[in-house]
Amino acid sequence: MRVLVIGSGAREHALLLALKRDPQVTGLAVAPGNAGTALIADQHNVDVGSADAVVALARSIAADLVVIGPEVPLVLGVADAVRAAGIACFGPGKDAARIEGSKAFAKDVMTAAGVPTAISEMVDNPAHLDAALNRFGPAAGQQAWVVKDDGLAAGKGVVVTADRDAARAHAASLLDDGHPVLLESFLDGPEVSLFCVVDGETVVPLLPAQDFKRVGDGDTGPNTGGMGAYAPLPWLPDAITDQIVNDIVKPVAAEMVRRGSSFSGLLYAGLAITSAGPSVVEFNCRFGDPETQSVLSLLESPLGQLLHAAATGSLDEVEPLRWQPGAAVTVVIAAEHYPGRPRVGDVITGSEAAGVLHAGTARRDDGAVVSSGGRVLAVVGTGLDLAAARAAAYTTAGAVRLPGSHFRSDIALRAERGEISV
Ligand code: GLY
Repeated sequence: MRVLVIGSGAREHALLLALKRDPQVTGLAVAPGNAGTALIADQHNVDVGSADAVVALARSIAADLVVIGPEVPLVLGVADAVRAAGIACFGPGKDAARIEGSKAFAKDVMTAAGVPTAISEMVDNPAHLDAALNRFGPAAGQQAWVVKDDGLAAGKGVVVTADRDAARAHAASLLDDGHPVLLESFLDGPEVSLFCVVDGETVVPLLPAQDFKRVGDGDTGPNTGGMGAYAPLPWLPDAITDQIVNDIVKPVAAEMVRRGSSFSGLLYAGLAITSAGPSVVEFNCRFGDPETQSVLSLLESPLGQLLHAAATGSLDEVEPLRWQPGAAVTVVIAAEHYPGRPRVGDVITGSEAAGVLHAGTARRDDGAVVSSGGRVLAVVGTGLDLAAARAAAYTTAGAVRLPGSHFRSDIALRAERGEISV
């Protein structure tokens, strides 16, 4: 099986590494990729937002399966075009990708499916903003305001704050840019990312994971695309994972089928485990980053066969997934000034070590690996428990050199100390 992976992050690097372990995968290609993925897959520099370009590439390399990593090509309908060309594709079509592309659509699906989620209100007129802010956050007895961009924002469109001025300023700047704003009630409780391979009403959950969205230790500073992750979650009872699958993901998948937007691909449920049970923060239409790096590092089952089955209507025939025992911890190394305006072009050393996945990297003409984005590397450590996995990840991260870079030092620390409970 020849597989083409679309994307250029550490998530795609993790997908490629897991695909490479599948004995049925005989060829790997990636577009556009990065300096790390170039070492394990044929690299093609195409515009991945262009359905024509992706289809032409898939045809030219005789791909048997295309796996689309990021949300933007999915929301643009690239998966539909690949399937229309007669090539198996892992990733939802444009209609189904609205579960991530439009938060208002996602809320509508969840309401129809009877799935618990935050109360929300859409504001598209600045004149209505102040009254709407009064119905949320501390003004309404909640811990914080949750202000979201209704469309795609790479994780950075969300501000969670108890400061009304900050909440208002974020909402006003989104509205100024012509983006509708979603105000949501704050969901208290530890967050869980549960990735499910879905085809229609067939749902195969992967290991639950947790990511760290704030830039600084102790969950301080602005939101980012994700600064680290770990899997599985020792504090999450299996019964709650089953509850998420049966009471949340399956009803949503069934509702998507019912409304003619059947989902095929990776349905990512982002949840808070509140005192009233799991409640949905958001759905995404693709593998999450950086959780994928932790989750797939523990997958023993052949990933290519799993994704191909989902893409070709035989997901219900796949054997139960097998996982390596123990834990995985991912630490993201970010460029100076990330998540603001990251500095790029710095030389990186140590990025070829085992467990170092590449995201914002490029190879310079002289052969040096340089930073080319905000999240530069994702370092994965595995071990028999979280303490061992953290030690492995931080030892490797500490050996990487990138001027001005920063990473969080507390990924999975509270879980290792047993400080999280539901
Ligand atoms: N881990 C957050 C995301 O992938 O959106």
